Parts: sequence; C-alpha cells; structure tokens
Amino acid sequence: ETKLSIAIDGPAAAGKSTVAKIVAEKLSYIYIDTGAMYRALTYKAIVNHLNLESESSLLETLLSIDIKLIPSEKGQLVYINQQDVTHEIRSSEVTNSVSIVSKHQKVREEMVKRQQAFADNGGVVMDGRDIGTHVLPDAKVKVFLLASVEERAFRRHTENLQKGFPSNLEKLQEEIARRDKIDSEREIAPLKKADDAVEIDATSLTIPEVVEKIMALVEERA
Ligand code: C5P
Repeated sequence: ETKLSIAIDGPAAAGKSTVAKIVAEKLSYIYIDTGAMYRALTYKAIVNHLNLESESSLLETLLSIDIKLIPSEKGQLVYINQQDVTHEIRSSEVTNSVSIVSKHQKVREEMVKRQQAFADNGGVVMDGRDIGTHVLPDAKVKVFLLASVEERAFRRHTENLQKGFPSNLEKLQEEIARRDKIDSEREIAPLKKADDAVEIDATSLTIPEVVEKIMALVEERA
C-alpha cells in the first residue's frame, strides 16, 4: 500500500487541524501542523523582544532553535528545544503577530525546508497555507478548506466558551479577517488554492462530513 501525502490549506479557523488530525488517525499517517511552527517562532520572537519586521533577526532566532511536533494522547505537543510551548503558542498575542513573522521570505524558506524533511517518507497529512502550492507541490491529495468568516468566528467563539475562556465574537471575526488578509496579500507564498486542489466549503458541513469528503479523495487517488 502506497503512502500518500495529503495537503490541507485554507483560511484561519476553518477546521483544518481538526479534520487533518482525524484523517491522519484513520490512515495511521503523521499529522503535521505547520501553523504551529510559525507560532513557535513568533512566541520565541516575542519573548526575546525581537522586531517582527526584522527578517535577519527572525532568521537568526529560527536557526538557533529546534521546533518539535510531538504526537501525544492529549493531541500534538509543540516544543522549542526542551521547552513545552503547546499552550503558549495559542495566546492571542502570538495569534495576532504570527502573520507578520510569516511574511518573511528567509523565514519561510527555512520553515519549508524543515516541513519537507518531516514529510520525506510520505504518509503525512500536513495543514497550513502554502502546503499544496509550495511545501508539497506533488501531494496526491490537495484540499482547500474554507468557510464563511462569520461561521469560522462563531465556531471559534463557541469553542472558547466551552473551554471557559473569555471570548468576543465581533473581535474574533475582525482578527480572523485581518489574519486572512495579511496571509493572502503577502508577497511570498500567499494563502491561495493550488490549481489542482479540491475546494471544500465547510460552512454548512459537519466535521464528519468534511472528513468523509477527504477520505473519498484519498481512496480515489490511492
Ligand atoms: O494554522 P494557524 O492558524 O495556526 O497558522 C498561524 C499562522 O501561521 C497563519 O495565520 C499564517 O500567518 C502562518 N502560516 C503560514 N504558512 C503555513 C502555516 C501557517 O504562513 N503553512
């Protein structure tokens, strides 16, 4: 049985990581959350008081750290060297700065290199913004997962409330829209559907329905 590479791209909070994890589990593939890598660098840059517009200092910091994505029963853990930063990288400070850090060409080149090395042996489900277009251009299955910004903000809001976090729907919608705008308008590897990606609009689909559509693509292409 051949192991495919599966690329899942799309705007913020569209449910990419949720469905990617389920698909990876079903296939016994490795799940790789590339957004977590940009978030880890952003966290480190904030802690070190770097100027987020400085490509050279961001690159220098990136080259000095090992970013590990470790599967566990509680989900994927993210480490910078020996430090567990799984929770820290989800803070609103990181979320609202990550699109600035990920604009830089040299940062992206290094990230793409690391991501391609993770995917070297196939059998991966990778989610992000440029997986189908740049990281895994030969992936057999490419999905572009989207949903209306209202629906994405509403889902994130509900998730926050369930976790007991404070949440403001209007603010969430603004932040998501702003992040999508920066990610789509950047010069280097912007958020964009690959020509050969299959678009799935999840606005009125459940998670199992999205998973089923992706599994059907996998079976078709295996
Ligand atoms: O997927 P997530 O929302 O965690 O991604 C955080 C940010 O990381 C995105 O908004 C984007 O700026 C950046 N990113 C990227 N390329 C990827 C994955 C994430 O530029 N492949």
